Amino acid sequence: MSVTIGTPLQSSAFKVLLLGSGELGKEVVISLQRLGVEVHAADRYDHAPAMQVAHYSYTLNMADPVELKKLIEDVKPHLIVPEIEAIATEVLLEIERNQTATVIPSAKAVNLTMNREGIRRLAAEELGLPTSAYRFAESLESFRAACDDIGYPNFVKPVMSSSGKGQSRVKSFEEVDAAWEYAQTGGRVNQGKVIVESQIDFDFEITLLTVRAKNPQTGQIETHYCDPIGHRQDAGDYVESWQPQPMTDAALAESKRIANKVTTALGGCGIFGVELFVKGDHVWFSEVSPRPHDTGLVTLASQFQSEFELHARAILGLPVNTARHSVAASAVIYAGTDANNLSFDQLNTALSHPDTDLRLFGKPEGFKRRRMGVATARAETTDAARTLAQQAADQVHVVLPE
Ligand SMILES: Nc1ncnc2c1ncn2[C@@H]1O[C@H](COP(=O)(O)OP(=O)(O)OP(=O)(O)O)[C@@H](O)[C@H]1O
Ligand SMILES: [Mg+2]
Repeated sequence: MSVTIGTPLQSSAFKVLLLGSGELGKEVVISLQRLGVEVHAADRYDHAPAMQVAHYSYTLNMADPVELKKLIEDVKPHLIVPEIEAIATEVLLEIERNQTATVIPSAKAVNLTMNREGIRRLAAEELGLPTSAYRFAESLESFRAACDDIGYPNFVKPVMSSSGKGQSRVKSFEEVDAAWEYAQTGGRVNQGKVIVESQIDFDFEITLLTVRAKNPQTGQIETHYCDPIGHRQDAGDYVESWQPQPMTDAALAESKRIANKVTTALGGCGIFGVELFVKGDHVWFSEVSPRPHDTGLVTLASQFQSEFELHARAILGLPVNTARHSVAASAVIYAGTDANNLSFDQLNTALSHPDTDLRLFGKPEGFKRRRMGVATARAETTDAARTLAQQAADQVHVVLPE
């Protein structure tokens, strides 16, 4: 059984509440709107990207259980779709228990992946998947011991953080105390816990977009994989991605095995961004997002159904098609300046090549390293697509307000 979709803004409306309204959510909203869904979008600030294309929007602190619960009671959504990690997940667990709404992909998935400790222990200790060696630490003293235990260089990350915030690569014992200080300022909530990971010496890293969707004939949930996406990270934040990333048959099979195990354990329907490190035939699990992934923006140019359309279809119980029609790449467009109310010009130059495209997210506030848009390009090879996407991104000119 799939859903019956009513008429938006009428009593028959099928309602989705998006928690987090960033650029990935914006594309999910557009996909849902195309299928006639009534979309409600929430975030902590006004005019967030997904709010601009939703039917209704709400500004609140979603990490506050009282505020979040009230919003859900007011909206009465059929589906709750978290787009960020900083959410009072205990509320979602309760909603799922009471069957008030369906949490996408599942309250367990959202709860475990918001904290690096939850997902790492699940992957490594319960599922036995290969990961980097790791330790957790909650004080400077235990952190020093953890670093010595894991060795150098290592990676230090607050357990509650994303997009590289508070994260550092520690090259020697001399850098340990500074890394601790930095982690304490970069975490999402003032919870001092960090993970120390051994460095994996990988050839490349990929996102394996994995979709759990219902088979239209049997109603059973099946797992589908997009072609692997290669990407480059700068200080823990994605700068460019491309699809497909060539790899050995053995590494691809192992990547799918890992993705299948972890997404099956998390459960529900929807898309997952499974982050993996690859060296030859060897694959290590790094982390997973139970939602579209930033590196997957490339699928806007490469696939018949982008990761956003795949997510929309899967959460509605509809069939999916993960096939790729083109080789493509994406490159991030940064604000490059700390200023609000920015404008973008030279777009005609940026889009002069017929195989390029652009998304401008419409974020009201800019800062130097804030992602304001993305350029995509299709080409014969990933190298050519990367060059073209980067060129288009570079050509977009950010203009300060008068
Ligand atoms: N153990 C490791 N060995 C080698 N490289 C690592 C390791 N951990 C992290 N990295 C590098 O740092 C990047 C960011 O790490 P990670 O994905 O854990 O952080 P994040 O803050 O969750 O980032 P994002 O939110 O952008 O996915 C990785 O994509 C990888 O390039
Ligand atoms: Mg990551």
